[in-house]
Amino acid sequence: MTVLVTGGCGYIGSHLVWALADRGEKVVVLDDLSTGFDWAIPPEAELVRGDIGDRALLDTLLETRGVDAIVHFAGSIIVPESVADPLKYYGNNTVKSRELIAAAVRHGVKAFVFSSTAAVYGEPEIVPAPEDARLDPVSPYGSSKLMTEIMLRDVARAHDFRYTALRYFNVAGADPKGRTGQSTKGATHLIKVACEAYLGLRPQIQIFGDDFDTPDGTGVRDYIHVADLADAHVLALDRLRGGAPSLVANCGYGRGFSVLEVLRSVERVTGAALPVLRGPRRAGDPASLVARVDRIHAELDWRPKWDDLDTIVGHALAWEKALITRNRV
Ligand code: UFG
Repeated sequence: MTVLVTGGCGYIGSHLVWALADRGEKVVVLDDLSTGFDWAIPPEAELVRGDIGDRALLDTLLETRGVDAIVHFAGSIIVPESVADPLKYYGNNTVKSRELIAAAVRHGVKAFVFSSTAAVYGEPEIVPAPEDARLDPVSPYGSSKLMTEIMLRDVARAHDFRYTALRYFNVAGADPKGRTGQSTKGATHLIKVACEAYLGLRPQIQIFGDDFDTPDGTGVRDYIHVADLADAHVLALDRLRGGAPSLVANCGYGRGFSVLEVLRSVERVTGAALPVLRGPRRAGDPASLVARVDRIHAELDWRPKWDDLDTIVGHALAWEKALITRNRV
């Protein structure tokens, strides 16, 4: 039994690959290394550099590696870029996912875990957002992921094929053992940016709007530790391999922190004041995005280990420091 992990050299993917290797699973990673890093995965995982839309390559991998499950992370993930270049997102995230799903069906791979996103809700009417909330993405990124969810739903109805779509909220932190983390240059994620500002890698951090309808006026998000998210994937794989039906589940902790609360956490963890600037809202940012989480707890029996903002920040900061050393070498 082998798990094929697409995009396994990326931020979340590499955490799953480590988690699978930790429990002795055979893993093949398919990654084009456009944004991921070959050093982010353990040496025992096989890395195949290639495109998930390459039908011949998929056929070879699924014929020769004994793959019984696929976890699909590969895709483009920058929301503003998706607004400027929607066809790139429908190509990379929707069209190529179709190729991968078709290959799974052709080769009888019955278990498929998909990286979806809270962006499928758009501006949710209900907070915390349940999985059956109205799906109304406000960006091509969210639409491209939702279209893949729809394909999976329909394919699972027509074929002997089951899937789990995990809708990630705000993923943050890094491997508690320091083996991988968020390494993308120019990432815009709040906790990463705040750590970079503390380390002097950026002159300051800007708060994107303080006039939202939230308790302190800044945006509220459900920050989930990437190691807990990786565990959710492992549980989702076990569940599907055990024959359970398809599932769509939010991945978050069910509680939100404002931008100011996050910045205060970074100041607590570092013991230093951050260079903060208040600026206008960023286009397309919802006021509040928090997951309703009863489903993931009930279906996956998921027990988060790192549900603590200062711990998330501490791990993110440790990784940023490790990256500085790595980039110097
Ligand atoms: N923020 C700032 N300053 C910054 C960066 C972020 O104030 O320098 C604020 C944002 O306005 C938002 C919060 O911090 O209120 C979180 O922003 P992030 O950029 O860290 O994350 P987003 O909530 O914008 O995006 C996340 C994922 C996306 C996903 C999206 C779903 O990173 O991949 O949620 O809406 F698509």
